[in-house]
Amino acid sequence: MSELKYPHLFAPIQAAGTLFRNRIFASPEGFYNISPDCFPNADCNAFFEHKARGGFASVCLGDCIVDRETGRHYDWLFRIDDERSLPMFSSFTSAISRHGCVASAELSHAGMYALASYKETGKLYGPVEMDNKYGHVTEMSEEMIEYLIERYGAAARFAKQCGFGMVTIHGGHGWLLPQFMSSKINTRRDKWGGSFENRMRFPLAVVESIRKNVGRNFPIEFRMSGSETNPDGYDIDEGIEFAKALDQKVDIIHVSTGNHEVLEATVITHPSMFLPDGCNAQYAAAIKPHVKSPVATVGAFTDPAQMEEVIASGMADIVELGRQTLADPDLPVKARTGREDEINRCMRCCCCFGSTGEHRIFYCAINPTIGHELEERYDNGPKFKKKVLVAGGGIGGMQAALTAAERGHQVILCEKKDRLGGVLVCEEEVPFKQKLAGYIGRQILKISRAPIEVRLNTEVTPELIREVAPDAVIAALGSRPAVPPVKGIDGKNVFGAEEIYYDTSKAQDNTVILGAGLVGMELGLTLAMQGRKVTILEMADAPNFGETGMHPISLGLELKKFGVEIRLSTMVTEITADGVEADGPDGHLSLPADTVIYATGQKPLREEAAALSDFAGEFYYIGDCVTPKNILTATQAAYTVARDIGRI
Ligand SMILES: Cc1cc2nc3c(=O)[nH]c(=O)nc-3n(C[C@H](O)[C@H](O)[C@H](O)COP(=O)(O)O)c2cc1C
Repeated sequence: MSELKYPHLFAPIQAAGTLFRNRIFASPEGFYNISPDCFPNADCNAFFEHKARGGFASVCLGDCIVDRETGRHYDWLFRIDDERSLPMFSSFTSAISRHGCVASAELSHAGMYALASYKETGKLYGPVEMDNKYGHVTEMSEEMIEYLIERYGAAARFAKQCGFGMVTIHGGHGWLLPQFMSSKINTRRDKWGGSFENRMRFPLAVVESIRKNVGRNFPIEFRMSGSETNPDGYDIDEGIEFAKALDQKVDIIHVSTGNHEVLEATVITHPSMFLPDGCNAQYAAAIKPHVKSPVATVGAFTDPAQMEEVIASGMADIVELGRQTLADPDLPVKARTGREDEINRCMRCCCCFGSTGEHRIFYCAINPTIGHELEERYDNGPKFKKKVLVAGGGIGGMQAALTAAERGHQVILCEKKDRLGGVLVCEEEVPFKQKLAGYIGRQILKISRAPIEVRLNTEVTPELIREVAPDAVIAALGSRPAVPPVKGIDGKNVFGAEEIYYDTSKAQDNTVILGAGLVGMELGLTLAMQGRKVTILEMADAPNFGETGMHPISLGLELKKFGVEIRLSTMVTEITADGVEADGPDGHLSLPADTVIYATGQKPLREEAAALSDFAGEFYYIGDCVTPKNILTATQAAYTVARDIGRI
């Protein structure tokens, strides 16, 4: 009888003669901060190695392209078709496997969505001739199909030679293999299309080619979409048939969902913050009774108790985590050792997609070590222990205090208000922000467990700095709402966003919000969800979502669902007791409103911070009091500054 709290989650599982130490896999992730030759580098190895060290049973290197010339959708996808990469892949696999973790290579080809290949060669290839949003698609000839089958096999053989312990065939999310599997797309009249049997011929030939190249004792995982979750894709009934055709020919059937090319579906593939945890497990559970191969599920898992339940109840045999591995690569070790309350849970804010989309670099809003794994690993700590005074207990201040304390400094954290958390505390009750509330609570818990002296109701003044006599002051004072200079802004019906977030009952039935930034739009959605009519007015010609990856897609869909109207290029000229006067693209408009809310940005408390700068040897500004932005920038600056203290 196991004495573990999560006995099913930590039960080992075997596939094709390989032992996986538990049921928690790190799902495929690409890594884009690589040179144009697209081989793994030291940053990449360190990023993935942390997951192996954190206890995951398998770590998968995403999007290794089997035929670069025809198959890549981005420029920065690993070249598993180029044998010059042997030493780089080998050092990657060594970084993973020496921790007792199985390294997997995801073998992929984007087919008719291979945009980066298209830009280079002017050619797109798919199962049938058609025009899609990227360009003209040429039907793959029989020779090309045979060639690609051989390329998948060669890539798998090479992966094994490089030390990978498994390959994951990417047969989901709308890439090449599901293009062949789809009855809607693959209407070919030869043996590669039309009937179910013909549509499965190519994926099954790929599996067979890989098996021939890697042998029986080497696990093959097949990642598929259980359902494409959109009207133009296939549904779970068809997904079950695909899984049945693959059963026992592959060693793990990995059930994801959706299709990359359909926005509504891609925010289910990567579940948004508006969906519940584990929302896609239903697809694995629907497939599981029909197959003998172990089944993996993926999507929005953060909670070991829920993961345990999914396996114990037989919904799936393995749980795979994506974004959660960034929020906390140590989740398995923490879950096994009874430290669940310290697990940083992914908020699904999608900043990871924002940073990879914009800069091709991975960052995580709530885990500032992501993107800095090498520095983190090989840093021996500060040379000198210092006394550090942190002024401000918001997001940045809390992170700075935690990082400084972890590094052995004496830390005093002062907060003007009677609790820690800063400006974001006001959003704790928002239904789709419960993970944010959890994050703030966890930071507070960690602070309570760390050797940090917390002084609440304490404003940092020059006198206080003189009295404490710190070596370093970190000013994390934050910001205050920017009040727009509009006639009538001081009316009784006008409120700042923060005040309404704290008490939504102050907003009446018909509400106008000034400012379509994230704060205004998420507040608008919250009020609309409670049944109010909400109109958002924005001066600029586009809403400002910040660098939040896929969040704009899901937020946009929710705003539409709840009938929130956004009027762009619209300048408010006056607020009256009856509503708002504004000039828009179609001329002047008078909008009746019971309540007007301004969400027009924040002003940094720079002068207040500067007033503290002359009373300690070291002084640092971080977070919103430099430039109000978001959790990511605040935690990055806090972590970096706190790590630098004591170096000299
Ligand atoms: C930054 C990032 C990169 C990803 N790269 C890949 C990839 O290369 N191949 C792939 O199949 N899935 C990729 N995914 C999708 C994940 O494997 C996973 O299916 C998805 O994020 C849903 O799981 P989650 O809710 O736990 O994040 C990526 C996800 C993230 C967050």
